[in-house]
Amino acid sequence: MADLRERASAELASVETSEGLEDWRARYLGRERGELTAVLKGLGRLPGDDRKRVGQAANEVKTELEQSLEARRSDLRQREQAEALDRERLDVTLPGRTVQRGHTHPLSLVTRDIARIFRQMGFEVFQGPEVETDYYNFQALNIPQDHPARDMQDTFWVQPGQILLRTQTSPNQIRLMETMRPPVRAIVPGRVYRNEAIDASHEAVFHQVEGLLIDETCTMADLRGVVSRFAREMFGANRRVRFRPSYFPFTEPSAEFDIDCINCDGAGCRLCKYSGWLEMGGSGMVHPKVLRGVNYDPAIYRGFAFGLGIERIALLRYGIDDIRYFAENDLRFLRQFS
Ligand code: FA5
Repeated sequence: MADLRERASAELASVETSEGLEDWRARYLGRERGELTAVLKGLGRLPGDDRKRVGQAANEVKTELEQSLEARRSDLRQREQAEALDRERLDVTLPGRTVQRGHTHPLSLVTRDIARIFRQMGFEVFQGPEVETDYYNFQALNIPQDHPARDMQDTFWVQPGQILLRTQTSPNQIRLMETMRPPVRAIVPGRVYRNEAIDASHEAVFHQVEGLLIDETCTMADLRGVVSRFAREMFGANRRVRFRPSYFPFTEPSAEFDIDCINCDGAGCRLCKYSGWLEMGGSGMVHPKVLRGVNYDPAIYRGFAFGLGIERIALLRYGIDDIRYFAENDLRFLRQFS
């Protein structure tokens, strides 16, 4: 018994882990294969005197070993906790990790500026759906099926002939007039889609801002005034704006307007296709057919509409010579704007 006690105590003193403790317990005190348990179980086979003596001694050793086990367990636990604390120690003097802050995309910055300038002129800002019907994108804008003007904008169809990704923000002219009575003064910025070849000044996914003003008295001169004021606010008093006669089925008369190329100052470069001018947008007086379609009486109301390319404005605004940078998501490009 004394030998067992010595051995058990000595082994316990050298146990260093909780797994080791469990193994030790199983070997000496375990119900199945514990050495001391075996002694206690065998007591019944001993003669009466021995049984009492050995039983008493074995129970004393058992109590002692159980106490030693508890003491060792608590020692180990304390040591493990101390080690864990040591591993997790914080060096509060280390410099903090810098938090990466995002910022606004240049196109969003420009869109905000556009909205600010038009708000100053009394326009309200609205949104419209990017997935449109053929009716709003074409028919209500006086572009019936098989009209050659459909070829001006190559369309991404969702359901051919019926549902499409809007090729322009102009369907919002109809949506606005359907829900408002004149006077109307609104702009609608948003993304548009065209199935066309991409180059330094053309994207297949780009942004426009539609403008619409409907009132009893309104002329082409007002349109010129609003667009020119916008260009001056956006690019400074020195920028030149040029209007050219053009054709859109939903305006009559129609005009496109350009701004002199900021990249080459009108001398001609890759961005302006060597013309010296960058096309900003299309515009015109809202066609009487379009007015009648939304139950506005063309004998009473007239108005103008325009559609500006937001990327084109951003190119000029920041002096960038390729539209493709905006969608490439190269952080070295994007980080320059904030
Ligand atoms: C239109 O989309 C007409 N809805 C504009 C309009 C509105 C006319 C209201 C009359 C009344 P256009 O296809 O020209 O017109 O496009 C208008 C502007 O969007 C262009 O002047 C140009 O600035 C921009 N734009 C056109 N195609 C692209 C393209 N692929 N990539 C980038 N910008 C483009």
